Amino acid sequence: MHIHRSEKIWLISGVVALVIFLGFIGFAAIADGITPPSHIQTIDPTKVAQTPPFDHPGLRRTGPHSMEAYIVAHIFAFTPGTIHVPVGTTVTFYATSPDVVHGFFITGTAVNMMVVPGWVSSATHTFTKRGDYLLLCTEYCGAGHHFMYGTIAVR
Ligand code: CUA
Repeated sequence: MHIHRSEKIWLISGVVALVIFLGFIGFAAIADGITPPSHIQTIDPTKVAQTPPFDHPGLRRTGPHSMEAYIVAHIFAFTPGTIHVPVGTTVTFYATSPDVVHGFFITGTAVNMMVVPGWVSSATHTFTKRGDYLLLCTEYCGAGHHFMYGTIAVR
């Protein structure tokens, strides 16, 4: 079978690009340790208000410089709406939703996750600068989506 020269170049560049991109994925997974989350927590979305620790959402101290924040994202607010964090604290956020898909984005940080009913999303950030960090819903969740925000007050 005769393959035209341009066709060969095109095929080879496609295969080379594929190998390079798969190489990047392999490098990120092995050398940088970037993998999909595993052992994800699930929760009954109809019983969020009765399921600990989401029955009492808020901050828990886990060490001298570490805290856990349990936050419920619901239409159209975060509960609690404001949390107060001492500067220098590493906060692990756990968020879930009893209704629809919401977003969980803290401005000025890499915390940016989807909050899906039935699942507990988690992300960690160390707050090294004082200030009010805006927590925004970044998934369109209904008529009040643009009113859905919270505040991380770092002092
Ligand atoms: Cu919640 Cu948009």
